[in-house]
Amino acid sequence: MKTLVIGTGGREHALALALSRDPGITEVHAAPGNPGIAAVATLHDVDPMDGAAVADLGARLGVDLVVVGPEAPLVAGVADAVTERGIACFGPSRAAARLEGSKAFSKEVMAAAGVPTAASRVCSTAAEVEQALDAFGPPYVVKDDALAAGKGVVVTTDRAEALEHAASCDRVVVEEFLDGPEVSIFAVCDGTTARALPPAQDFKRIFDGGRGANTGGMGAYSPLPWTPADLAERVLATVVQPTLDEMVRRGTPFVGVLYVGLALTAAGPRVIEFNCRFGDPDSQPVLALLTSPLGELLRAAADGDLGVVPAPTFADGAAVTVVMASAGYPESSSKGDVIVGTETLAKERDVEVIHAGTSRTDAGLVTAGGRVLAVCATGADVADARAKAYEGVATISFPGAQWRRDIAAVPLGVVEGASLTEETT
Ligand code: AMP
Ligand code: GLY
Repeated sequence: MKTLVIGTGGREHALALALSRDPGITEVHAAPGNPGIAAVATLHDVDPMDGAAVADLGARLGVDLVVVGPEAPLVAGVADAVTERGIACFGPSRAAARLEGSKAFSKEVMAAAGVPTAASRVCSTAAEVEQALDAFGPPYVVKDDALAAGKGVVVTTDRAEALEHAASCDRVVVEEFLDGPEVSIFAVCDGTTARALPPAQDFKRIFDGGRGANTGGMGAYSPLPWTPADLAERVLATVVQPTLDEMVRRGTPFVGVLYVGLALTAAGPRVIEFNCRFGDPDSQPVLALLTSPLGELLRAAADGDLGVVPAPTFADGAAVTVVMASAGYPESSSKGDVIVGTETLAKERDVEVIHAGTSRTDAGLVTAGGRVLAVCATGADVADARAKAYEGVATISFPGAQWRRDIAAVPLGVVEGASLTEETT
């Protein structure tokens, strides 16, 4: 089977690696890809937002499956263009991707499906926002309704800050604060059926102890030894299946990864958000542990045949990924800083360097984004995987590199300290 992965980041590198390990996959292509992906796939220069161009490339290469990684092309309808060309596509249609593309829409679907989530109100005027803030009380949670590349949510005890954020958006969702550790569950869906992968935890703040600004994620690990063994299955039954059923009822079945961001509150698991794709970096440790063929799983999902392939299997032990970010992240990022050490690490067993924002120039490998790369290691348990990941980080360097020292550190599963520092953005 020939596959084409669309995207440029760490998620796409992790997907390309897992596909290249699948004995049923003969060719892995990626567009546009990155220097890390180039080691396991043939790269093609295509605008990932251009559905017709992606479909043309898939047809020209004769691929059997296109995997669209990021949310922006999915929300823009790239999967629709690929399936209309008669090529199997893993990733939701434009209509189904609204589960991530509009917070108000996802809340509406959750309400209709009876999915446990934070109580919320959609607000378009300052007066509505004031009333909603009064109704829920502090800490205040204000979310931009539109896709905002991880910058749309403000969680704060400062009412003025909450109002200011609402004023900077067209339409916002104001919601109840959910108190509890966050976990990510990825459900592979074929429209009617779903398979849950083991849970992962993402570390979202820039600094140790959960301090500082929100980022796209500074590290992650999987599985989560402190959660109930049946958590993923419970979430499948109480969240994913009702959501799939509701999307079918609306005539827009969801095919792809339903990424369930959960808070484990005292009252039970509550959905914080839905995304319509694998998380990054949180899917890296999950994919690193996968032992069954990824291509077969994603192709079955694209074809509506998940029920006929075996459930995915995972190695015993654990995986930990630690992100190295460039100077200035997350407010800005530094480009062109020379990265050394990745070649040595590429030869290590059980350790992968996952590229996210790198570029190959005359000067060698350089930084080209905020989150530059991640070191993802597997091990006998979380502590072993963590030690290997940090040994890997120690061999890589670039000017201004920043990384957290407490990814997957004991105690595991604590609420990320400052979910409400004043610098929350
Ligand atoms: P989102 O973009 O919806 O994932 O939100 C970004 C981050 O804001 C989440 O990962 C949580 O840490 C936090 N957050 C979002 N909604 C809530 C909520 N209702 N209660 C507490 N924290 C939240
Ligand atoms: N790690 C968070 C995300 O992928 O949205």
